Order: sequence, then C-alpha cells, then structure tokens
Amino acid sequence: MNNAKIVIHGKQKLCGSVRISGAKNAALPELAASLLTADEVHFQSVPQVEDVKVMFHVLENLGAQGIFNADAVTIQVPTLKSAEIPNELGKTSRASILILGPLVARNGYAKVSRPGGCAIGDRKIDFHLQGLREMGVTIRETADHIIANADNGLQAIDYTFPNKTVTGAENLLMAAALAQGQTILRNCALEPEVGDLVDLLTAMGSHIHGKNTETLTITGQNRLNGARHTLIPDRIEMGTYVIAASLRGNNEVMIENAIPEYIDSLLSVLTEIGIEVSTWDDKITVRTRGPLCPVEVETLPYPGYPTDLQAQLTTLLTQADGVSKIKENIFNNRFQHAVELNKLGASIQVDRDVAFIKGKTPLSGRTIRATDLRASAALVLAGLMAEGQTVVENAYQLLRGYEDMPGKLRQLGANITLIHE
Ligand code: EPZ
Repeated sequence: MNNAKIVIHGKQKLCGSVRISGAKNAALPELAASLLTADEVHFQSVPQVEDVKVMFHVLENLGAQGIFNADAVTIQVPTLKSAEIPNELGKTSRASILILGPLVARNGYAKVSRPGGCAIGDRKIDFHLQGLREMGVTIRETADHIIANADNGLQAIDYTFPNKTVTGAENLLMAAALAQGQTILRNCALEPEVGDLVDLLTAMGSHIHGKNTETLTITGQNRLNGARHTLIPDRIEMGTYVIAASLRGNNEVMIENAIPEYIDSLLSVLTEIGIEVSTWDDKITVRTRGPLCPVEVETLPYPGYPTDLQAQLTTLLTQADGVSKIKENIFNNRFQHAVELNKLGASIQVDRDVAFIKGKTPLSGRTIRATDLRASAALVLAGLMAEGQTVVENAYQLLRGYEDMPGKLRQLGANITLIHE
C-alpha cells in the first residue's frame, strides 16, 4: 500500500455529479465510543478509508466483534480482551488518543501509544490529559506510551479548554459520559463532528446539553446502551470537490449528499475569488467563469476557514491573477505541499506560518510526492490542471481520508488512475 501512486493526465473538463461520503473525522471518535457500552452499535455512512479501517482493527484488538460491510459498520464490545494498543497500530492515526477516554472510562485502565509524529506539525494532547487527570485518572507518560488508571472511576469536572481542540473535546465528552455526576466542558471546539458525536452519545442514553455550542454539559450514566447512527457527510471531502470543480475551464459540477452550511467559510472565499457557487438543500453546484481574483485567507477553528482545506485552496490560488496570502494558524508545519506544487511550476513562497501564492502560473506535470493527507489532495487537484502527466507518489496518504477519490474524479471526466505497486 505504501508504494501506491496516482497517475493523472491533466486538463480534462470536469462535469457531472459526485456524492459525498460519511465524515472520516466523525467515524473515528464514534467508533471509539462503541467502547462505552457492551451492546451493539450500528453505523451507516461510514467512509471506507484507511484511517477508519485502522480504528476498526484497533478496536478488534481490544475485543470488539464487528462487521465493516460497504458503508455500514456493526460493532460490539461485550467484554475487553485487552486494554492496550500495540504500538504499530496506534501510531498511524489519531486512533489511539481517541480510544484513551472511552477505554479508561469503561475499564479503569488503558495503555495507548503516544500519537505518532505527524507531518503537519505538533499534535499535542496536553489538554486531553489535563482534563482526564482532573476527572481522577492517574496518567503516566513514557516516550512511547500513555498509561491511564482510574481505580475509583471517573469524577465529573468543570473544565475549560485553554484552546479549541476537536479530539480533545471528543475525548473528554466520551469519558464524561460514564463519569459520576454532571460534567461541564467549556471552550469546546464547534466542528460539526463534535455535534455528531453528541448525537450518537445521546442515542446511546447520554444526557448532554449544549450541542454545537462552546459549553457542553454531560450527566454521566452507569452504563450506555447500543444505538443506530448515520454519520454526517464529510465536509472536508465536500470542500475538496468544490475546489476541484472550481479549477480552470470546468463545466458545471454538482456535489450531492452535501450540507452547504458546513463549508460556508470556503464558499464565501470562492465567491470572493470569482467562482459561481449555488447551494440548495443537500446540493452544491460550482461554475467557473472568467479570471480568478487573489484573496487573503487565514485558517481558524470552526466556523472559520478550515485548516484541512488550506492545501487545496493553495492549489486553486496558483491560477488567480495576482498574489494571494494564506496564514496557517492551527498547525505549525502545514505548507509542505508548496514545495511539490512549485515543482509543477507554481510560485509559492512560505515564510513561517504564511504562504504567498503568486498567480497565474501554468502547471506542467511531473512526479511529485504526497507528504500528508490533505497535501495529497492538493497535489491531485494540481495534476488535474497540469499539462501532461503528473504522478503523485506515496498515494497512501490520500487513501487515509478520501473514499475512492480517483473513481469519483473519473466519474466527473478526469483521466486519473491509482496504481498499487
Ligand atoms: C482534528 O485533529 C482533525 N482530526 C484534524 O483533521 C483537523 O485538522 C484538526 O482537528 C483541526 O480542525 C480528527 O478529527 C481525527 P486539535 P486534532 O486538537 O483534534 C493544539 C485531517 O486532515 N492542541 O483541534 O488532533 C494542536 O497542537 C486531520 O482530517 C494542543 O495544544 O486537532 C493544534 O495545534 C488533520 N493541546 C491545535 O491545538 C491539545 O491537547 C488544534 O488541534 C490538543 C490540541
């Protein structure tokens, strides 16, 4: 899988419709939440992507019995056969840190690998650990592991996150679901995936107030029940296809199974650039007319412009007439795609947390390399626009978070193939 590469012959017009899959970043915490009950939990609209498959296998290692069939998952953890995540499984994604909260809440003990070094920058977990410690969890940290003990169960807390953290809010929410008493979590992240987890936990019997607000109040239960839950659509996949449809010279593209409001920040940036966007119910259509204007954007916690759509926007802005500026406020190493885009002919200058993109630059295909999940999507988008053939190596990165992107783009008319060597 690690030798997978994607071959693209650029400049094909994209038109037609593409259907958005379920949200990867909802699937990860929600599969972990199945640890909070011994009953069966049934999910619909689960994206078949590598990071979700890793989470599923990690849970199987802990004792979960389950079926992952097309986009439906049935999973049950009647008893735990282990409370430790082997290193090789825990390092490749955020799976291990999202298991910590529910596992220690269920079992009173958990040993997870410290999240692996990540290409996009620091992935700190100090707020996760601080909140769990205040809940009465003893946490021991080694170079590779986090060992958590809660011999007397978890206590409710009134905790304020120092900064917004998506998985931090999800982790403490899951732990609080089994804590004794009423927990208040303040300054919570507002990403829709946190709200979707609230919906799942509520369906499992949790009493939670404040969904989609910065203050979540959770009344802990002795146990939770099974549930059936359909995941929200993936807003980052949605935004990626909206940007793909905005690339030069495309006809009308329809994005289906969408929730346009989830990407309002992107849609207003595209309108500023000069892209024609129409939205209704669960659909978005995009038309490119005339020249693209340069813009200034900075990434922010939701509902601000998402860091997970920064790389893809960088690719689009290589075709704007003038100099655009993107400031990356969330992660401290998330411009690695710029080096690869410059190999295709882009003119991007990175100065610490700011990228200046000088357009309009024609792109010509050559072999480039994906460094991380969203960078790989940005490189594929560049290949769609480049003259000739572009080969994106290390395509495993794309498979981590996008369900069959080559197939979905071929459906729109792209000339793109995934090759497993
Ligand atoms: C989630 O990561 C997403 N992943 C990321 O998507 C996304 O980029 C990120 O949120 C921001 O929106 C999942 O949901 C699985 P954070 P997460 O905790 O939760 C600092 C993708 O491409 N921080 O919100 O790990 C941290 O260092 C991925 O799908 C602390 O300082 O991100 C970072 O600078 C990439 N202490 C910032 O906060 C903490 O305890 C945001 O991190 C936690 C975080």
